[in-house]
Amino acid sequence: MDEINICSSGRVISRVFVGDGIAALEEHLDPYRHVFAVMDSNVAMQCPVAQEIAEIMNHKGVPGKLIDASEDNKTMDTVMDICGWLLDNGADRDALVLAVGGGITSDMVGFAASIYKRGVRFAYVPTTLLSQVDAAIGGKTGVNFENYKNILGVIRQPEFTYICPQVLESLPYRDFCSGAAEMLKTFIIEDAGNYETAVGLLNAMHKEYVIVPEQDAAEYWSDCVSAHACELTPLIAAAVRVKAGIVSRDQFEKGERRKLNLGHTFAHAIETLARREAMTGDGAPEKTDITHGEAVAMGMALAARLSDRIFRNDMDTPSALEERISEDLRACGLNPDSPFDVEEMSQAMHKDKKAEGGKVHFVLIRSIGDVAMQDLTVDEVCRLLA
Ligand SMILES: NC(=O)c1ccc[n+]([C@@H]2O[C@H](COP(=O)([O-])OP(=O)(O)OC[C@H]3O[C@@H](n4cnc5c(N)ncnc54)[C@H](O)[C@@H]3O)[C@@H](O)[C@H]2O)c1
Repeated sequence: MDEINICSSGRVISRVFVGDGIAALEEHLDPYRHVFAVMDSNVAMQCPVAQEIAEIMNHKGVPGKLIDASEDNKTMDTVMDICGWLLDNGADRDALVLAVGGGITSDMVGFAASIYKRGVRFAYVPTTLLSQVDAAIGGKTGVNFENYKNILGVIRQPEFTYICPQVLESLPYRDFCSGAAEMLKTFIIEDAGNYETAVGLLNAMHKEYVIVPEQDAAEYWSDCVSAHACELTPLIAAAVRVKAGIVSRDQFEKGERRKLNLGHTFAHAIETLARREAMTGDGAPEKTDITHGEAVAMGMALAARLSDRIFRNDMDTPSALEERISEDLRACGLNPDSPFDVEEMSQAMHKDKKAEGGKVHFVLIRSIGDVAMQDLTVDEVCRLLA
């Protein structure tokens, strides 16, 4: 088992445990007298490991609540519902709220715990690859508001994040790929060696998956994740180490932490447009049904094109870096092509919460493992990408 710490001013502020079975979770909960568990209802139904967690909670007499963890439900109403449940169950300032689920669950439960009684402690058992390598690390919590993603929230660290790779065996292939996008993003930022290793492993898993007949795919995928767990676990730990290092140096995103937003200004625009299209458009799935990780993959390909235009004055379409990253993403089962053009994305990018004084902090890729930040206006970016 790996233990990775997030520190601030030389003090450990959050711990991440990677690689143990779920039974050992109980020991990590022992120091806390009043634990309250909130679980994604879908995870409770689909994930055998979550059922083991429920048994641990029953054994410890921990009150439990199920939530509908969908992007539409990632709202203040759900946060208030969690707070009301804590209140009804007598949670005091000594409480620890445990979130079991993917990034939507951890973002909402972390936020609810951060505002309940001016802040109680919380911990995560992330059940998606995306939340294991990203959402459950670093303390960003929050909800969507008025068609803006994660626009309300706080940065506050969980006591611990307990990563059990076995939970991924029930995660659908598509959600696994979404997490793969965030993992590759992390390695593009800071770890060229593990980028290569991750592309190799994810490509092997993708190739094994796509040849299986559709009716057997879910069961086969579960076996595939189980068979590759010993290669996947060190990559999860490596991605956590990169993020924990960056967060330790810049917890509140004043500088270096912005690197982790690689591809995200584009991704948020794509997600906003997809939601708008779902409400008003013709319903074509490639324009309405895009997960966060899928949008990040598309955003990284655009960031690569922008980087080539800026660093290498390469005005070809697509650029060499974009071609390389797009090819790697495709090899890993991800689509790098945004269904929206740059013009369409421009308006949504103007309204991104990360835009400050008309400029956006764009993260550019010098080479795999080496990124740089540059403030650019959305109009400059659109001109360069056109
Ligand atoms: N706080 C952060 O730093 C941060 C970083 C990245 C993303 N996010 C947020 O995370 C969210 C996306 O997270 P996500 O991809 O984990 O989504 P998610 O929580 O919606 O999970 C994806 C789907 O998988 C299901 N699921 C989860 N675990 C499962 C399991 N083990 N077995 C079977 N099904 C399972 C869920 O019910 C859901 O349908 C977005 O809202 C995004 O904004 C936050």
